[in-house]
Amino acid sequence: MSLYAIGDLHLHFQSVLKAPGQLHGRVWKNHEQKFLKNCRRLITPEDTLVLAGDHSWGKNLAECGEDLQYIMDLPGRKILTRGNHDMFWDVKKTRQLNEQFSPALTFLQDSYESYRDYAIVGTKGFTFEGPFYLDRRGRITGWDEREEERAKKLVAREQARLRKSFDLAKKDGYRKFIMFLHYPPTSILEQRSCFTDMAEEYGAEQVIYAHCHGESRFHDSIMGEFRGVRYSLVSGDYLRWNPLKVL
Ligand SMILES: [Fe+2]
Ligand SMILES: [Fe+2]
Repeated sequence: MSLYAIGDLHLHFQSVLKAPGQLHGRVWKNHEQKFLKNCRRLITPEDTLVLAGDHSWGKNLAECGEDLQYIMDLPGRKILTRGNHDMFWDVKKTRQLNEQFSPALTFLQDSYESYRDYAIVGTKGFTFEGPFYLDRRGRITGWDEREEERAKKLVAREQARLRKSFDLAKKDGYRKFIMFLHYPPTSILEQRSCFTDMAEEYGAEQVIYAHCHGESRFHDSIMGEFRGVRYSLVSGDYLRWNPLKVL
């Protein structure tokens, strides 16, 4: 029995690929087939696979049917968290999504899922991503402060959602946590953030995040051990479509 994770599948069986430039390169060619093959090789029906957001380019649920069917057909138990591109998933309608796709898929939001004696907690998260102003050598000399203010509000909202997830699990007696985010836990300006602080506060063993894809972004945030927590990036192209074994 193992726990696996990956993110940023960006499926588009039915919908238009909205950012073709974002998903170029050989790694994206037939990525659905590559990932399916890897899952069938690695994941058994007893295993759990967490998909850490950016599942589909579909604008709404009707445009995501084939993408979600693809995910349902993967081996193991599937838990999904929200990404910034998952337009089909309105937070307020998470319960309906769970009712509609139960027991094949679990949509994790403002809640937790158990895995052995661990609680899997998570939310989309948020990170300030600029615009940054650079000098001729590419060093950051400033950034858009209005965007930074907007980002602070979104970070605070996601922070509250994550705390709810942790608190529910804690109330139910869980003491071991694996924390999932879609966005990286820190922006490129930060060493720590409210998300790394929360991981430490609750004693999460690992923080798993996605969203950083394309080689230039793989090292935007923390990887490896930091202040007693293990951080892993699981964007699909970074993992070359091999889900990461978390536990
Ligand atoms: Fe993505
Ligand atoms: Fe994303």
